[in-house]
Amino acid sequence: MSMDLWPTRPVRPGDPIRPSVRSSGSLLVDNIGELVTNASGDGAGGPLGLHRDAAVLVEDGLVAWVGSARSAPAADRRIDAGGAAVLPGFVDSHAHLVFAGDRAAEFAARMAGQPYTGGGIRTTVGATRAAPDSELRGTVRRLRDEALRQGTTTIEIKSGYGLTVADEARSLRIAAEFSDDTTFLGAHVVPAEYADRPDDYVGMVCGPMLAAAAPYARWIDVFCERGAFDVDHARAILACGQAAGLGVRVHANQLGPGPGVQLGVELGAASVDHCTHLSDADVDALAAHTIDCMCAEGRHSRTVATLLPGAEFSTRSPYPDARRLLDAGVTVALATDCNPGSSYTSSMPFCIALAVREMRMTPAEAVWAATAGGALALRRDDVGVLRPGARADLIVLDAPTHLHLAYRPGVPLIRQVLHNGVPQ
Ligand code: NIG
Ligand code: FE
Repeated sequence: MSMDLWPTRPVRPGDPIRPSVRSSGSLLVDNIGELVTNASGDGAGGPLGLHRDAAVLVEDGLVAWVGSARSAPAADRRIDAGGAAVLPGFVDSHAHLVFAGDRAAEFAARMAGQPYTGGGIRTTVGATRAAPDSELRGTVRRLRDEALRQGTTTIEIKSGYGLTVADEARSLRIAAEFSDDTTFLGAHVVPAEYADRPDDYVGMVCGPMLAAAAPYARWIDVFCERGAFDVDHARAILACGQAAGLGVRVHANQLGPGPGVQLGVELGAASVDHCTHLSDADVDALAAHTIDCMCAEGRHSRTVATLLPGAEFSTRSPYPDARRLLDAGVTVALATDCNPGSSYTSSMPFCIALAVREMRMTPAEAVWAATAGGALALRRDDVGVLRPGARADLIVLDAPTHLHLAYRPGVPLIRQVLHNGVPQ
């Protein structure tokens, strides 16, 4: 695994200061009936690295020890999981939380037969530009907190509803107050004022907009799709972002077949997202490049296929074929795509249930994809896994096994969330 695959977010003057809230003293989460670690070590416990009758020791916000409840060390405080299942917190690697306005009427029109085209993005751009910072910040906080209550302890946040230099920069400045994984999506669509001169818009995205956005971003993303950005524009924008130190991710092959997935693979993207309409060549390209990584057992595709079943649900579209990707050896992540247009859900359990019921993933595959898979899609080795040294982000279910996340859809199963070792 070469280090340049893993973009870091440089600390720059003017960066927002995020207080690092961590637990003090030690905390033992004890009496865990089924522990999902995603760290199978010797292969025992399958890809989820399952342990029975387990305990987890947390110190200074990190996992300090994982093992049998019978040999658990003493700790200052104790949480009794009561025989329930405990998992790593969900890693939602794809969300658009910085926006204003509401598109419920567009959803209702779709349910009455209208197709989804992405045309509503411009509606949200207008509302977002008109909103004060305080409103945008309030929406991000509300959705981040909503996600946290449903077990999401890591969330990527994109810009993409500002589409001016100032509005993209402020979107990312606000996003960076809530997440280390912020993504510059100035190339979401060509805004109305540039409709007849898309080359000029691309020049602006690569020039002043990127310069203003990069200090607050770890990633760059492009909506590479008919009606948004073609492959030449997408390649140019992503290459500029890479040159500025940002990692690459792509909205690809959502509404129809296209070049986005293979462009992402060509550029070494961490993830190509949606992947709803794939050719055999797209699947082969994803499977062709693999990496070893400490964060999850075995080899994984260098570019993860991130599937967003909330979008297919909310646009009444055919689901991506997860089985085909998994059988070809492609690493799959699940994420919400939370946004006001195509997928207004912040619920990773809902996405797990859809993936199992509609996309032929096993419950274990879906849970892995929503935790370790999301971490790989963000090239993070500190989340999505429970082993010594990882962030103490974990969820206690109101259920005896991870199977219940798909078996009991729509039921609030997240009993307790620990983030950085702190009970929420
Ligand atoms: O990922 N596809 C592009 N962007 C979003 C939808 C945005 C919107 O409709 O507002 C997505 O689905
Ligand atoms: Fe998206």
